[in-house]
Amino acid sequence: MADTATTLLTEALHDLEATADETALEAWRVAYLGRSGRLTALLRGLGALPAEERKAAGAAANETKGRLEEAFAARSQTVREAALAKLSGVAIDVTLPGRPLALGRYHPTTQIVREICGIFERMGFSVVEGPEVEWDYYNFEALNIPKDHPARDMWDTIWVSPEGPRAEKPMLMRTHTSPMQVRIMEGAEPPIRVIVPGRVYRYEATDATHESSFYQIEGLAVDEGIGLADLKGTLYEFARQMFGEERKVRFRCDYFPFVEPGVDMSIDCFNCNGKGCRTCKNSGWIEILGAGMVHPDVLRRAGYDPERYTGFAFGMGPERVAMLRYGIDDIRLFYSNDLRFLRQF
Ligand code: DAH
Repeated sequence: MADTATTLLTEALHDLEATADETALEAWRVAYLGRSGRLTALLRGLGALPAEERKAAGAAANETKGRLEEAFAARSQTVREAALAKLSGVAIDVTLPGRPLALGRYHPTTQIVREICGIFERMGFSVVEGPEVEWDYYNFEALNIPKDHPARDMWDTIWVSPEGPRAEKPMLMRTHTSPMQVRIMEGAEPPIRVIVPGRVYRYEATDATHESSFYQIEGLAVDEGIGLADLKGTLYEFARQMFGEERKVRFRCDYFPFVEPGVDMSIDCFNCNGKGCRTCKNSGWIEILGAGMVHPDVLRRAGYDPERYTGFAFGMGPERVAMLRYGIDDIRLFYSNDLRFLRQF
């Protein structure tokens, strides 16, 4: 079927509209303007026409050829420009400086916990962790704090069992890491040297120095012949590594039901070297931890013979250590997820 110039023109222009890239344009050119394309066929067909029609048909065919070539050139231009515009949108400026990678970092508590644990690990302690949901037995009873004993007031407790402390087997969020002393001794024979970092919980209104959840690091060493001098020597070495070679330590009597004797350890203020300043509240000393010789009843309850084995234990708060070292005046900053605070460490 031979094309007429008009149908060829209409269809060709219609198809040309649909071309969107160089490949489609080229296919269109071959189909219409190419050597075996429809326009060539039309022109070739002219010769077969009767002489009186040939002139008009020839003119129409030539006119069509002109219109198609023009339209093709215009469309080519449009398609090329569109392609260029698209390219410039994704263009890469190789002269721009690279974007810095956002590097993550450890939370300040994690950093301090690791630093403290590291010091004790180098002294031969192993790091052990324990459950945050704990039995009343391990948190209190086994540590010489029976039901209704006033010492329980030292630890405001979040109870897990609905009946609270009156449950048959009361369960709580551990208020300190000390319950791990008993769990460790139940499951191992001396010599024992462990350090226990972990989260603890208190039923407490928060303020600048109190959080309802914070960290503690517990230490325990049990063997034959361990005495108060071992406790002092170990903790003195810790203080020097943590707060500086020149640190002095001071031990004073303190009361914790699960140690006898119980002590607290202070270091001379690293900020003013003991002269008195804001950090040490003008006393020259900073209290760092509680400690003591493991109470014979605690040893006995865990299955050890207190006539043969003795040990020392200690507990400290890493946030407090970080606060002192960096001059942070509000413990709530640690757990409010404020990146302006966290990024400083
Ligand atoms: N568990 C105590 C507290 O939460 C801290 C402590 C004191 C731990 C004396 C000890 C220790 O192991 O011997 O306040």
